[in-house]
Amino acid sequence: MKRIEYDHSNLSRDVVGLHGVHSPDLAALQSGLESGVDLLSELGQSEDITFVDLPDQDLSELLMQVAADRHGTTDLVVIGIGGSSLGTRAVYHALCRPEGGVRLDGAPLEGCRLHFLENVDPVDVRDLLDRLPLATTLFNVVTKSGNTIETISLFAIVRQHVVEALGAEAAQDRFVLTTDPEAGPLRSLARREGFRTLSVPPGVGGRFSVLSAVGLYPLAMAGLDVATLLRGAVRVRARSLERDLEDNAAGLFAAHQVQLYRQGLDQVVLMPYASALLDFGRWFVQLWAESLGKRTSHHPDGVEAVGPTPIVALGAIDQHSQLQLYMEGPVRRSLLFLDVEHTGVDFTVPALRGFMDSLAHIGGHTLTDIRRAELQGVREGLTEAGVPNATLRISRLTEESLGGLLYFFMAATTIAGRMHHVDPFNQPGVELGKRFAHGLLGRDKESHYADRLRHAIDTRTRSVTPLF
Ligand code: PA5
Repeated sequence: MKRIEYDHSNLSRDVVGLHGVHSPDLAALQSGLESGVDLLSELGQSEDITFVDLPDQDLSELLMQVAADRHGTTDLVVIGIGGSSLGTRAVYHALCRPEGGVRLDGAPLEGCRLHFLENVDPVDVRDLLDRLPLATTLFNVVTKSGNTIETISLFAIVRQHVVEALGAEAAQDRFVLTTDPEAGPLRSLARREGFRTLSVPPGVGGRFSVLSAVGLYPLAMAGLDVATLLRGAVRVRARSLERDLEDNAAGLFAAHQVQLYRQGLDQVVLMPYASALLDFGRWFVQLWAESLGKRTSHHPDGVEAVGPTPIVALGAIDQHSQLQLYMEGPVRRSLLFLDVEHTGVDFTVPALRGFMDSLAHIGGHTLTDIRRAELQGVREGLTEAGVPNATLRISRLTEESLGGLLYFFMAATTIAGRMHHVDPFNQPGVELGKRFAHGLLGRDKESHYADRLRHAIDTRTRSVTPLF
């Protein structure tokens, strides 16, 4: 495997000063970390939370289905939201060109083009339906619960469109539903109507599900090597069970983040210096925010709420946007850079002497040289400004490195959850919003949520100022 390493030199108080992590404070977190590592290893025996077992799954059935479904398919639309889509997007865009059938470095892929239909935005739906070759498109509806409003609405609209275009019988064949193996309205529908299905294993929640059929089916349909993706996860899984901090990068990242949070640095900016990893950043934001932003009553200090805020930035673009705040604003955050060393493609800036003499030094450098110089400069600038920062150095973006990175962040999130005394696997806040929406859209079961909202609208003072 190509190397991935966590360089945390610039988090140390010895290097970055006051806001850095002091070694004795880190050492004091050892028992919390061990408890997090124990949790990860207990999950291996648990039936309730099972994402840690996903890298060991037998892929033969899934790959047989992919081989059959790929035949004659040019496009696959993933209809899902949150954890049912972000991980797939992250891997697809990290490895493939959006037009499909080709890797980022130009190597051909035997697979179809992926599209993602996530938002209840009519413009998105129209734009996608207008350009899809329906007769050769498959729709993969992904919802663990089977009752997510956005996903079900989009599914119903798309299905009606396909039925109108191709007829009911042919339309049926165009859908693959990924959902809970037993429960939920989508599973019931699939049984009744005979849709083809895949299962999200019990105990695998949305944002931890990318290494299940949720992500593996569409990624394999795109031609990616999902067995190697799992192999990368296996390698990081072994390391994430080490109790010694120096051997456990995921545990160390979690411990750093917990310590920084306790020091008042309650934000972490994930800043890839590769456009292909922007969606990976969005996946991380969901994982970290939805897993760790929680009320807790279990904390020994009586803390009521925990909430490290994840932010995604893209280098070098956001050097010209967010970086000023991070350099000179109050020190409330650390940064984690993702540095991809080799992209497999490059361009050289032509000689500039005689054309733009004052910038002639740029001529002859590759874009990779420039990207490296920018990243090194930003790391050094932040360090001199006393802002803790670390780097995940990734030799190349491959299925194996992506699998490793996905597992790294899922393990770190689990460990950080234990250290923060929250349950990283639930999302009661998201559920509440869903209930309000169901109530407002007319479901009896949630009608009291609609009443609550109407009462609030009637009784609260409104403060609205027109712009024009
Ligand atoms: O991580 C999670 O559990 C959530 O983000 C869900 O993935 C999201 O709410 C979609 O849920 P479902 O897969 O049930 O449609």
